Amino acid sequence: MWKIGLIGCGNVGLGLLRILEAKKESLRERYGFTFTVTGVVDPFRGSVGNEEGLDLKALLEAADAKASLDGLGEAIDLDWLLQGRADVIVEATPTNLHDGMPGLGHIRRALEAGCHVVSTNKGPVSLALPELEALARSKGVQYRIEGVLLSGTPAINLAQEALAGCDILSVQGIVNGTTNFILTRMEEGADYQAALSEAQELGYAETDPTADVEGWDAAVKAQVMANVFLGEALTVSDVDRQGITHLKPADIEAARSRGRRVKLIAKVERSGGAVRATVTPTELPLDHPLAGVSGAVNALTYETDHLGEVTIIGPGAGRVETGQALLVDLLALNRH
Ligand code: HSE
Repeated sequence: MWKIGLIGCGNVGLGLLRILEAKKESLRERYGFTFTVTGVVDPFRGSVGNEEGLDLKALLEAADAKASLDGLGEAIDLDWLLQGRADVIVEATPTNLHDGMPGLGHIRRALEAGCHVVSTNKGPVSLALPELEALARSKGVQYRIEGVLLSGTPAINLAQEALAGCDILSVQGIVNGTTNFILTRMEEGADYQAALSEAQELGYAETDPTADVEGWDAAVKAQVMANVFLGEALTVSDVDRQGITHLKPADIEAARSRGRRVKLIAKVERSGGAVRATVTPTELPLDHPLAGVSGAVNALTYETDHLGEVTIIGPGAGRVETGQALLVDLLALNRH
């Protein structure tokens, strides 16, 4: 029986709790995965715990009603969970690309305490992936991050498991759902601000959406692609980055009149012994495989030695979609 502690009960954390509540029985039957959520820590909604397991239905009802979680368990903090009350910490606080906090601190403390960590938080990955992986190894636990790329669409699993044995030569694609959604809506005639607000309402955008529209989110994902797929320890400042804020409706219309479509493309490739990573708005011909990827959908094309090109297309953001990434990491822990 896995004891799960959740840090951060926003869009993503609630997405996971919804899946866990809805699929409790089938997860047990199909995967032998049994669990209790012993605690939820969230600075805004409240922090509650129960050693026997919280009532997820009551938690979800309170969250839907935008009510505080206080009273649904005893008042707790992260330390309470790390004193033997969690085997795995799910870290889903908002991404902070500047210093990684508070997520980076939570993850360090959880790994130090010998808990597995599954997380969708891109700040700690961008700033400290090698350190956190080494810490996890030294404690005999895992730090799993499927959700940092393409939400629940299995981009990391694909490379590490399904493509095992292939050399990956380059990877390129659409890795930010918010900007792809905005570009699609602008092509349909919507105004930039309205499209951004819509992306925020749908739970695609970062808490600070500047990270999306200025290309930082995509740059961090390119950094992860370089690290995880090509084994090259780049930092985010190594990524040559441009966002979409300078694009005007007229630019999008002009591309359309040339039979092309603008997409924000992230690419990592080996060139002359070094790895180059870029994020650039790019005009693609309409028959290009990435040109038809619209809305918050993401796609990655892996160029490999044994298979040539392999492309994966699927959701890149969203509550349940990112909750699925956390679930798949929990199931991987259960399998191993
Ligand atoms: N803000 C991100 C996006 C969320 O729009 O892709 C998923 O990482």
